[in-house]
Amino acid sequence: MKILVIGSGGREHAIAWKLSKSEKVEKIYVAPGNGGTAAEKKCENVPLDKSPASEEGQNALIQFIRREKIDLTVVGPEDPLAARIVDRFRVAGLAIIGPDQKAARLEASKVYSKAFMKKYGVRAAESQDFSDPVAALVYAKKHFDNGAAPLVIKADGLAAGKGVVIAENFFEAETALSSFMKDKSLGDAGTAVVLEDFLVGKEVSVLAAVSVSPGKKGSIRPFVSARDHKRRFEGGKGPNTGGMGSIAPVPDFTPAAQQDFIKSILEPTLRGIEVENMDYRGFIFFGLMVHQNRCSLLEYNVRLGDPETQAVLPLLDSDFSELCFSILDGSLDTFPLKWKSGAVCAPVVVAEGYPGSYRKNDTITINEKDFAKTGTQLFIAGAQRETKNLLAEGEGAELRTSGGRVLAVSAWGSNADEAWTRAYEAIKFINFEGMAYRKDIGREDR
Ligand code: AMP
Ligand code: GLY
Repeated sequence: MKILVIGSGGREHAIAWKLSKSEKVEKIYVAPGNGGTAAEKKCENVPLDKSPASEEGQNALIQFIRREKIDLTVVGPEDPLAARIVDRFRVAGLAIIGPDQKAARLEASKVYSKAFMKKYGVRAAESQDFSDPVAALVYAKKHFDNGAAPLVIKADGLAAGKGVVIAENFFEAETALSSFMKDKSLGDAGTAVVLEDFLVGKEVSVLAAVSVSPGKKGSIRPFVSARDHKRRFEGGKGPNTGGMGSIAPVPDFTPAAQQDFIKSILEPTLRGIEVENMDYRGFIFFGLMVHQNRCSLLEYNVRLGDPETQAVLPLLDSDFSELCFSILDGSLDTFPLKWKSGAVCAPVVVAEGYPGSYRKNDTITINEKDFAKTGTQLFIAGAQRETKNLLAEGEGAELRTSGGRVLAVSAWGSNADEAWTRAYEAIKFINFEGMAYRKDIGREDR
C-alpha cells in the first residue's frame, strides 16, 4: 500500500521510518518532508505550494492522493487538523488518521479543552477562562493577594509553544496578559486566556491511539510513557524550547501512577469523546503532571508528540500501518499492540543560538560507518538535502541545517543507562558548525 505522511519534522521522519519497516507498505510520500525523509527507504518527499492547513493546500493533496492512488494519510502536526483536514478528506472518501474539527479543539482551544475536562471529570488544575482583560487582571490580582503561588497563563489558541507563561508575581501576570490580550502578540490565539493554578510534580507524556466513531463504543490504547525535556540547558535550566530530547519509558511513572492516569484521565476522556459525538480516529497526547502517583492533565494534543514520537516509535513492536487501519475500522480494542523491552534515549541536536535566532545552512557531516555500528537511529528535523543536483537528491546529497532543532539520535538500550550511553556515543559521529545538545536527557526530569 501507499501512505502519505503530512509534516516536515523529526516526528514525521520517525513515522515514515516506522512505516517503512512494514512489509505491507510499498511507498511513503512525505509532504513536504525534510532532508531525512528524502533519503529514507521507500520514502519520497512531495513539495507543497500551499500549506496543508489551508483549504487550497488540502484540495491539492486530495488530488495528489487520487492521482497516486494513496491508501492512507497520517497527519503529523496540529495546524492541518485544526483546519479541518480530516473532515475534508473523509467527505472526499479518503482514509485519514486524525480527529475531526470538533475533536481537534481539544488542542486548538484551551478554553474548550478545560471546559471538556471539567464536564467529564478529567483531573486537572483549577482554572477560569477570560475574554475580558480587566476581569483577567482582577482574577490575577486576587490570586497573588491570597498567596505566593505562581499563576499559569495560557493563551486559548494554537501558539507553537509560546502560549503558556508561568507568572511568579502580579507584575509578570500583568505583562503577559497585556501582551496576549491587548497587544495581540499571538494574534487571535491570545484573545481569550485560561488562568490556571500552578501544579508541582514531574511531567510525563502519554501518547495513545484513539478510535471513536459517532454512536459507537470507542477505545483508547496508551503507548509506553515518554518524557520531553523542554528547557534549553542542562539541569532543566534556561528558556523553553520545542524539546531538547526525549526518553521512553519514564522510570518514575510507577504502576500506581499509571493506574491513576487510566482512572482519572484516560477513561473520562474517552467517555467525553463518545458523549460529544466526535469522530476521533487518530492519536491523542496527554501531557501530565504527576505528584505522589497522582496525575493531573496539563494539556491534550490531538496528534503524536514531538520529540516523544522519536523515542516511542522505536519501541513499538507492531506494524504501524496495521495499527492505523485498526484505528480506522474500529478494531483498535483487540489490536495486538506490542512493545519491545528496554528503553530509548533520544537527545536532540540544535543549531547555535536556538531557541533564539540561530545559525542555518551549515553542512552536516556524519561518519556513516561508525554511526551505523552504534545501532542508533537518526531522525532529521530541521535539515534539508542540497537539491541543486537533482540526481543526487536522496542519500548522496549534502545535508544542511535549516531549523533550530536539527536532528535527534534515537538510541535503544536494554535499560535506560545503556540507551543513554549509546545515544551520546553516536552523537560523536555527527558534526556541524555550532551544533549543541544537552548531555542529561533522561538524567533530569525537565
Ligand atoms: P501546556 O501547553 O498546557 O502543556 O503548557 C506548557 C508547559 O507549561 C507544560 O509542559 C508545563 O511545563 C507548564 N505548565 C502548564 N500548565 C501548568 C500548570 N498548571 N502547572 C505547572 N506547570 C504548567
Ligand atoms: N512534546 C510536546 C508536543 O508535541 O507538543
